[in-house]
Amino acid sequence: MQPSSKKPRVDVAVFPVAGRGTRFLPATKASPKEMLPIVDKPLIQYAVEEALEAGARRLVFITGSSKRAIEDHFDSDGELEHLLLKQGKSEQLKMLKSVLPSYASCIYIRQPAPLGLGHAVLCARPAVGDAPFFVHLADDLIDAEESCLSQMAKRFDNGSIVAVQTVPHNQTDKYGIVKSGARHGDLLRVDRIVEKPKPDKAPSNLAVVGRYLLTPRVFTHLERIGEGAGGEIQLTDGIARLMNDEAVYAYRFAGKRFDCASKLGYLQANVEYALAHPELASKFRGYLRKLARDI
Ligand code: UTP
Repeated sequence: MQPSSKKPRVDVAVFPVAGRGTRFLPATKASPKEMLPIVDKPLIQYAVEEALEAGARRLVFITGSSKRAIEDHFDSDGELEHLLLKQGKSEQLKMLKSVLPSYASCIYIRQPAPLGLGHAVLCARPAVGDAPFFVHLADDLIDAEESCLSQMAKRFDNGSIVAVQTVPHNQTDKYGIVKSGARHGDLLRVDRIVEKPKPDKAPSNLAVVGRYLLTPRVFTHLERIGEGAGGEIQLTDGIARLMNDEAVYAYRFAGKRFDCASKLGYLQANVEYALAHPELASKFRGYLRKLARDI
């Protein structure tokens, strides 16, 4: 996979995976939400593939308790490889070896407690250094011809970018919400950003989804802010402070987002990805047609 942009490559992608996924209990009691499969691939692998396509080579996972399976997933498994070889399952072996290309490296940093997304991103600071970086939330799955992070990297011009989409007005209290101002090409200057406002207080219904391209200056603000909405250290609040120093932009990405943190969004993603899956599409479509007639 080649970086899709002529601009300087964004080398680091941060994956905050330390949340406990309480909306998905009991499935997430002992295994990470990010390991839930969409058809046959875990959410976190879609996330890593998207970041690699956008040019990232250093993958920083902010982990917490019961997240060991993520490390295992991206590690080689000699015993399984040997078994597949012995059984002549060469396709599966090839697929297993391609989970993480050799040019990518993984760094795991433990978030001591789930103190919020802003705190999780701050934990990545030693691995990010002083360069722009991606933040990718694996439970927001985006199906797009060109990956959402690639679209953002292409448009990056020294100002942080948050991916946005419009949401129903009565759902503003689930998202960071932006009030946008002047247009700069495909980007909108963010005039205001606020975490989870009640619908009657929301400045718009333009919601931030789980893709960010941030400048490292955001860390300075994240280390200073205290608890925000829900008693957590919010990334949105760090970005709001960053706007005092430099321009921040919103980008309406091209693609379809599935909110896989919710059960409904997760099921929808599985149905639509199965309908596009080369092995399954035809049989699954037939099954759905029959089911739709019966219900
Ligand atoms: P969510 O708000 O979806 O929280 O976090 P959650 O714990 O994962 O899920 P629910 O709400 O209990 O069902 C958004 C993203 O931020 C990460 C999560 O892993 C998720 O990718 N996160 C959140 C952290 O890494 N650390 C935190 O302290 C909080």
